[in-house]
Amino acid sequence: MSQTDNIMRPEPHRILKITHETQAEFTFRVEFSRPSRFGQFCMLSIPKVGEAPISISGTGEDWVEFTIRKVGRLTEGVFELREGSTIFLRGPYGKPWPVEETFAGAEQSLVVISGGTGLAPVRTTLNWFYAHPEQIRTLYLIAGFKDAGGALYNEERERWAQAEHFRTVYTLDDTEAPGFEKGMVTAHIGKIPFASFGENYHVAIVGPPPMMHFSALECLKHGVPEEKIWVSYERKMQCAVGKCGHCKINETYVCLEGPVFHYPKAKTLFD
Ligand SMILES: Cc1cc2nc3c(=O)[nH]c(=O)nc-3n(C[C@H](O)[C@H](O)[C@H](O)COP(=O)(O)OP(=O)(O)OC[C@H]3O[C@@H](n4cnc5c(N)ncnc54)[C@H](O)[C@@H]3O)c2cc1C
Ligand code: FES
Repeated sequence: MSQTDNIMRPEPHRILKITHETQAEFTFRVEFSRPSRFGQFCMLSIPKVGEAPISISGTGEDWVEFTIRKVGRLTEGVFELREGSTIFLRGPYGKPWPVEETFAGAEQSLVVISGGTGLAPVRTTLNWFYAHPEQIRTLYLIAGFKDAGGALYNEERERWAQAEHFRTVYTLDDTEAPGFEKGMVTAHIGKIPFASFGENYHVAIVGPPPMMHFSALECLKHGVPEEKIWVSYERKMQCAVGKCGHCKINETYVCLEGPVFHYPKAKTLFD
């Protein structure tokens, strides 16, 4: 059966590994062999409990990872599952980050600004550039968290911080801890040497809508043209394939045209 035939049908998949990132965020590695692209998401479900869109935060030959924050019905159900349990998936769906066609290239720099669990949808992109230094000039990452206990991917962030082609700033909103700077991500955007990039860069912003909105404004304030900015926009979804209208903002179907949007379009979607 082709993917088109069963695009709406959740299929059972085995959970291979569960990593406790924080108290409220776990990463679930799930057996999965369909191809996916940077920033896409799947619909995860448990029968009789619920279904929700979750970004793919990691990929391997026959698995994908999802970093999930426990917030409601479905995610609470998922947190009760164990390694070896079955979870239902459909997808992947959505417009990806334009990594190969836009971001990559030895002359290009990429600036990634993330807030909280927003680091999850860009993790595959970060790990790809980590493994392919020849594809990028410099990757600047500003990743913000509420406090040190809520910081994701501690070992990976440490590796990124050590990489010669990465420049990282990790922030905590209003506490201090080793390895972190104090303040919102917006307070650190001015440290990025945008003027030195010429035309050769892009900015990817992902996190809660107010964080994306103010981060984009801060970038614009520092001379970044709108066309250089991309955001990933989360919206309540039901079908994820453009049929139910649940995700619609004005005439835009976030599930089909997003979740990744170019800022000139995204700025019309912020509430
Ligand atoms: C493209 C996309 C990618 C995403 N990627 C991720 C990801 O990688 N990781 C991740 O953790 N999340 C991700 N999300 C968000 C995730 O889909 C939502 O958090 C989802 O709602 C979780 O489903 P749930 O059933 O657990 O929570 P829900 O039960 O839907 O609850 C969600 C929120 O709504 C509140 N709520 C629920 N019912 C009510 C009510 N009646 N009145 C008021 N408030 C209510 C809850 O308290 C909670 O804060 C993504 C969303 C999108 C659109
Ligand atoms: S979620 Fe149904 S149309 Fe987008």
